[in-house]
Amino acid sequence: MSYRRFYDCSVSEKLLYTLFIAILGTGYTFAMILLFVTVSTGDGEGGLSVDDIVIKYSGNRSGTRLEQALSAQMKAHRTEGEYLNITRWINSGASEAGYEEKIKQTFDRKCVFCHSPENPMNLPDLSSYEKVMEVVEIDMGESFGTLVRVSHIHLFGTAIIFYLLGRIFVLTEMPVLLKRTIVVVPFAAIAIDIGSWWFTKYSVNLFAYAVIVGGVGMGLSFALQSFLSFYQMWFVKARFKRKYESSSSVERRGEYRQE
Ligand code: HEC
Repeated sequence: MSYRRFYDCSVSEKLLYTLFIAILGTGYTFAMILLFVTVSTGDGEGGLSVDDIVIKYSGNRSGTRLEQALSAQMKAHRTEGEYLNITRWINSGASEAGYEEKIKQTFDRKCVFCHSPENPMNLPDLSSYEKVMEVVEIDMGESFGTLVRVSHIHLFGTAIIFYLLGRIFVLTEMPVLLKRTIVVVPFAAIAIDIGSWWFTKYSVNLFAYAVIVGGVGMGLSFALQSFLSFYQMWFVKARFKRKYESSSSVERRGEYRQE
């Protein structure tokens, strides 16, 4: 029994693989940029930290989403005085009368040109009392519905990506145990990563570390599979070919010919 290797592939097949991997890699890079700009602002400090992840999935229970945003991402859009006014209003019960009297004009002047229903980015609408009240609740993080939606998209997406990439990667030559490991790791990482979003939401912060381990595992296996495939596809061909052409058919069934 012998398996296909990169040196059995035609140039068009290798071009197809290479371009596919290149586009996937670009997509992955953009995903990383997106992750960095959206999640890393959670705790109001630069960089992606464990706190950012905890805040994203289980919320910052010490304040409302509005206060949270005003002390972090939206800090630049308000003055210290306006911030105090708003927190005082929230702490005194966030009444509609108080909103009309003190808060509405600040929002209209400083926030509504981004935070209106017309905004295509689907930002929280801050143009009326009812809408503002939606962000004046204790922040419980990502909702159950959002997490279900994001989980199913990620599961389908990552499974398809790692299946296709894995199909290419199994054409490499390497010790069989190493290869089997590299094939399995991304799927384990997906399970750890997405499973721990849920645990981070419903239980301890420790699972935020698992989110990171899963994410890093996925990234590393992605990089490793892409790089090894690409390298062997274009640069190692001759060496292996010579090796197997000169060896007998019995040797061809050695360790490296296993899948
Ligand atoms: C220049 C446009 C702009 C202005 C002005 C602006 N925001 Fe935002 N706001 C955004 C964007 C973009 C996001 C989503 C990105 C993010 O969460 O970092 C956001 C997110 C938010 C959120 C949601 C955070 C979360 O929990 O997801 C709140 C609450 C908020 N802004 C409040 C305000 C308030 C209050 C003001 C006025 C003092 C304001 N924003 C002014 C653009 C703006």
